[in-house]
Amino acid sequence: MKILGISGSLRKNSYNTAALRAAHELLPQGVTLEIGDLSSIPMYNEDIEPFPPAVQALRERIAAADALLIATPEYNHSISGVLKNALDWASCTPDPPCENKPVAIFGVSTGRFGTVRAQLHLREICLALGMLLLPKPELFITHAREKFDAHGQLIERETRERLRALLEALIAWARLHASRM
Ligand code: FNR
Repeated sequence: MKILGISGSLRKNSYNTAALRAAHELLPQGVTLEIGDLSSIPMYNEDIEPFPPAVQALRERIAAADALLIATPEYNHSISGVLKNALDWASCTPDPPCENKPVAIFGVSTGRFGTVRAQLHLREICLALGMLLLPKPELFITHAREKFDAHGQLIERETRERLRALLEALIAWARLHASRM
């Protein structure tokens, strides 16, 4: 089983990207998690044809994955432009790679809401893309500065266990849908 992790933050010390790295440490045997790179994705423009190489590469990685795990930051009560832009490119025809793709979402913020508002928007976007969105568990990681150390390690045990539970649910969700194909 191959999971593609997507972080909505380009920041080198991003807590969301760090959380995806923590997810990698928590994987059960037989499951891989790679983190996609959104840093070279240009702004969406319908006039641009064919897909730029970075867009094509992302689309191929999504298509090849059995499931996606999206970590979203919250910017002004919504998802980042970086993430929305990447999802817009991924939604384009032909063969939109997100369609019918199992996906779990979560997010990390430095504040006390833990991206709850961004995730509500992201849920709607995932449904618009025809993704198979894992309904629960939800994971809102609040107060990131207290839960990650200076090296970006997720050090809080409870949050690690919640992340593990989300991963296990995503893997079961992806297997369920694979068995129905
Ligand atoms: C933020 N941040 C933020 N946090 C939050 O809980 N709700 C919000 O609406 C916002 N809005 C917001 C806007 C902008 C432009 C920035 C740069 C930041 C803070 C945000 O949670 C924090 O910067 C996280 O660390 C961003 O995630 P990464 O980059 O660490 O993954």
